[in-house]
Amino acid sequence: MADENAPMTAEEFRRHGKAVVDWIADYYGRIESFPVASQVRPGQVRASLPADPPAGSEPFEAMMRDMENVILPGITHWQSPNFFGYFPCNNSFPSILGDLLSSGLGVQGMLWATSPACTELETHVLDWLGNMLGLPASFLSSGSGGGVIQDTASSSSLCALLAGRERATNYESNTRGCNGNLVAYTSSQAHSSIEKAVRIAGIGDSNLRLIDVDDNFAMRPEVLATKIKDDRKAGRNPCFVCATVGTTSSNGMDPVRKIGEICHEHGIWFHVDAAMSGTAALCPEFRHFQDGLELADSYCFNPHKWMFTNFDCDCFYVADRRALIRTLSVLPEYLRNRASESGAVIDYRDWHIPLGRRFRSLKLWFVIRSFGVEGLQAQIRKHVELGQTFASWVREDKGFELAAPVPLNLVCFRHRGGDAVNQRIMDGVNRSGDLFLTHTRLRDRLTLRMSIGQTNTQLRHVERAWERIREEAARDSS
Ligand SMILES: Cc1ncc(COP(=O)(O)O)c(C=O)c1O
Repeated sequence: MADENAPMTAEEFRRHGKAVVDWIADYYGRIESFPVASQVRPGQVRASLPADPPAGSEPFEAMMRDMENVILPGITHWQSPNFFGYFPCNNSFPSILGDLLSSGLGVQGMLWATSPACTELETHVLDWLGNMLGLPASFLSSGSGGGVIQDTASSSSLCALLAGRERATNYESNTRGCNGNLVAYTSSQAHSSIEKAVRIAGIGDSNLRLIDVDDNFAMRPEVLATKIKDDRKAGRNPCFVCATVGTTSSNGMDPVRKIGEICHEHGIWFHVDAAMSGTAALCPEFRHFQDGLELADSYCFNPHKWMFTNFDCDCFYVADRRALIRTLSVLPEYLRNRASESGAVIDYRDWHIPLGRRFRSLKLWFVIRSFGVEGLQAQIRKHVELGQTFASWVREDKGFELAAPVPLNLVCFRHRGGDAVNQRIMDGVNRSGDLFLTHTRLRDRLTLRMSIGQTNTQLRHVERAWERIREEAARDSS
């Protein structure tokens, strides 16, 4: 029976739902007609919205009109094949549909008992992925560990740090709090989420050691070993090391095996953050970047960056699930249930920070089944090849230079004319709306980042981007 207060009947939902799917399909059809980066001024979107919410129900058509007129101008088109900024946050139709089904089911999967399929599909898909990426057997649910989907790599790294902190204090910092003696280590090129995690976990910024990198922006393991020894000598408690496979600034690859051996020797929790570049391991020829992963206690990568799965979706693996669960599990009476007490099920609420959780594995399942392993590999190889091609053009052009090695699909480069010229090139191409690029600083010089990983990017988009960059450079020198 229809509820007379419901804003939409099932029949209307069916009709509007089809219109929304059509709108999304058409959006992808016309996406290249929009300026890639939104051109609105601060406050412009809000100024177009009514000050107060409507007292009564509005027609659906009015909302869709505002999608076009108010929202779209304020969108930076991350799904445009001309989006080369930051790292990608790519997407695909099967993923959107999986996510829609998750919304439709509206499941909250905090416990196995609150929706067994939500938990069991997640365990299964993460085991699939573990095998697809060549992860060590200890990270699979059949081993001592297992995988879980988190919102972001930031959350995964925080959970890893918390587990490392607890293991290093014999699980006492959860009870007594931190005493200022714990120390964490990562490279000077690691993502800012590690520093944030160190703050949240109560370790303290001043107890995070940012280890020097070599000429390839990779952590220097001998410096790490010395710092750990110095801290031990000074009576401190080293509890966590994070290596990065594919740093954000320059795609630097930390030497996982050497760092892992040091962590092993000192009994320190070893986390590997492969948020962006982990996806490359779908292809056996790129797995050497993660050589030594069997020495890691935890690992994460983001299908929501480079594996065609819409935000949010980070996969977090641990080698010893007991350490993670012991760190994060708090059991109030109202969550007790027979299945949990039987010990035969996984309750993912104990594997991350929030209690509640969406049915995210549906979209990942749809992506893997729709592309197939070979289809995913083909996409990754295409992006890497496009990255290498772009790098070869930079190498051949006397006006430009590469600013870092190009192991995969991120090209860090700069015009030889200096920071101001590079800034003008970036501002020029971005203002034109033809493409979107972002920057970093490497060796204290402004560096442009060409990050190639959008689902629909083809050679012609990369060719056009290079042409536009050179046009802007020529304008600068004329
Ligand atoms: C290496 C690395 N780690 C962590 C992150 C943070 O990702 P998230 O937004 O999933 O927290 C990024 C984001 O670009 C990253 O490149």
